Amino acid sequence: MALSTHQQNGHHRQQQAAPVHQHHPEALMPLRALPDRGVGEQLSYELITSELLLDGQARLNLATFVTTWMPSLAGRLMDETADKNIIDKDEYPQTAEIEARCVNILADLWHADSAEQATGCSTTGSSEAAMLCGLALKWRWRERMRAAGRPTDRPNLVTGINVQVCWEKFMRYWDVEPRLVPMEGERFHLSAEEAVARCDENTIGVVGVLGSTFDGSYEPVAEIAAALDELQSRTGLNVPLHVDAASGGFVAPFLQPDLEWDFRLRRVQSINASGHKYGLVYPGVGWAIWRDQAALPRDLIFDVNYLGGHMPTFALNFSRPGSEVIAQYFMFSSLGREGYRRVMGNAQDVALKLSAGIEEMGPYRLLTRGDELPVFAFTLRPEVTNYTVFDVSDHLRQRGWLVPAYTFPADREDLSVLRIVVRAGMTLDMADALLAHLREETEMLESLDGPLPHSKRAGLQAFRH
Ligand SMILES: Cc1ncc(COP(=O)(O)O)c(C=O)c1O
Repeated sequence: MALSTHQQNGHHRQQQAAPVHQHHPEALMPLRALPDRGVGEQLSYELITSELLLDGQARLNLATFVTTWMPSLAGRLMDETADKNIIDKDEYPQTAEIEARCVNILADLWHADSAEQATGCSTTGSSEAAMLCGLALKWRWRERMRAAGRPTDRPNLVTGINVQVCWEKFMRYWDVEPRLVPMEGERFHLSAEEAVARCDENTIGVVGVLGSTFDGSYEPVAEIAAALDELQSRTGLNVPLHVDAASGGFVAPFLQPDLEWDFRLRRVQSINASGHKYGLVYPGVGWAIWRDQAALPRDLIFDVNYLGGHMPTFALNFSRPGSEVIAQYFMFSSLGREGYRRVMGNAQDVALKLSAGIEEMGPYRLLTRGDELPVFAFTLRPEVTNYTVFDVSDHLRQRGWLVPAYTFPADREDLSVLRIVVRAGMTLDMADALLAHLREETEMLESLDGPLPHSKRAGLQAFRH
C-alpha cells in the first residue's frame, strides 16, 4: 500500500519489546503516534531491525529492477555523504560538479553530438525524469501550435500500452490524452506502424521503451524514428521521439553497442534512465538528458537565488540526498566501461542460463529469453490446467524467491506470465538453486490429479515495476 491511512486502535497503540534477551518495559510504546518518551537509540535500533526481518530478502527479490547490491565501499561513501542536499549547489559545489560529470558521461555514452550541447540533470528516478521529459515535449508542442495559431487544448502522447505507470501518471497529471497502442498476438510492445498511425498535429511526442517492463524486450526505436521521419516528409508533421531507457540505458551501450536507439537517431530528443536500476546504485537516482538546448524550453527552468549564487533548476523535488549521485559517480569511476560490460554480461549469462533451464522443464513457454535486457517473461503452456502462474509464484515464494506473476494489458489480458529480472549480485550458483527449486515445485504441481482450488483473490493484475 503506497498511501497510509490514519489508524488507531488498541492493537496499534502498544508494541511489545522485540525479541531481545531481557524484557524492556520501556519498549511498550504507541506504534502510530509519537511516543511521549522515546525508547532510546539502542532499543529503537533493535526494535526496527527485528521488525524488518519480516521483509523479503532483497537479493532474492527477482521482481524488482532496482539495485539490491552495491560494493561495501559504495555503502560507506553513501553513509558519509548522506548529509548533503543535492539542491544546495552553492554550498556543495563539488557534489554539483560530480552531478555535471555524470550528465556528461551519460550524454557521451548515449552518443550526444558534442556540438549540440546536450543538457540534463539527475532526478529521484525514471518517474521524475519521465515527468520532466514529458513536460518538455508538452511545452515545445504548445509553442509550435501557438506559433501556428492552432488550438493548444488537446495534447496527446503515443506509447505502447506496456509503458510503465509513470507515463500514465504523466498523462493524467498533466492533462495529456493517452494514445496507448494495445498488444496484439505475439506483439507485446509498440511497433513503428502502430505508433505513426496514432500521430496527428496534437501529438506532443512518441515514447519508445528500451526495454519493456512487462517482458524485458526492446521496442524498435530506430524503426519508430524512421517511420516518424517518413511521416514528416509525407505530411509535414514533426513528432519528437523520447526514449524511456529506464533499464536499457545502462545495458544496451555495453551489451548491444551497435544497436541504434539513442542520440545517434536525430529524431530522439530526450532520454531517461534509472541510475538505481542497471546504473547499479541503490534507490533513488535517475537521469534525464535532452539532445540540445532547443529540446528543453527555457521557461521550464527556474532560477533560484536563495541558496547563494544563481541556480537554474528543473526538477519536481527540491531537496534530496546528494549521496545517490555521488554513488553513481563512484560506480562510473570504479567500474569504467569495461566493468559495466562485465557486470551486464554476467547478468545476461545468468538470464540466458535461467531461461534455457526453464524452457527445458516442459510446462513453460518463454515470451522473451533475456537476450535484450537480462529480464525475461514466461507463461504456462495451454495444456497446463491444474495450476496457474500465480500458483508457481506462490510456491517459489515459499522457497524464498520473489518472482511476480501478473496479467498482460489490453489486448492480451488472457495472458498471465511470470517474470525474472536478473541484476548484479545474482550469481550462477544462485541461478542453479533457483532452477532446482522451480523444478521441484513444478514437479509437485504437475503431479496434482485435479485443478488447485483458488480463493477469490485480485491477483497481481495491476502489478507494475
Ligand atoms: C521502462 C520503465 N520506465 C520507468 C520506470 C520507473 O522507474 P523509477 O522506478 O526509476 O521511477 C520503470 C520501472 O521499472 C521502467 O521499467
